[in-house]
Amino acid sequence: MTPPAFDSAESSSRDHMVCHCLRVSASQIQAAIEGEALGSVPEVCRATGAGTGCMSCRVRIARFLQASSSAIG
Ligand code: FES
Repeated sequence: MTPPAFDSAESSSRDHMVCHCLRVSASQIQAAIEGEALGSVPEVCRATGAGTGCMSCRVRIARFLQASSSAIG
């Protein structure tokens, strides 16, 4: 059996819940970062509502920002 592929393109195309408290998905986070040119966790939190509950997802939001900034340059 071949293990599932986990390259960045495939994992970014899958939509999953990033913020369970506010029910904000990966695609919503990504769209906010790209569409509104957001550059910090607080900006993403304000724009999407993610990270405004228990705050445990803020690390995941930061990873989206890192991936986005490294993709840009
Ligand atoms: S999981 Fe995002 S605020 Fe709790």
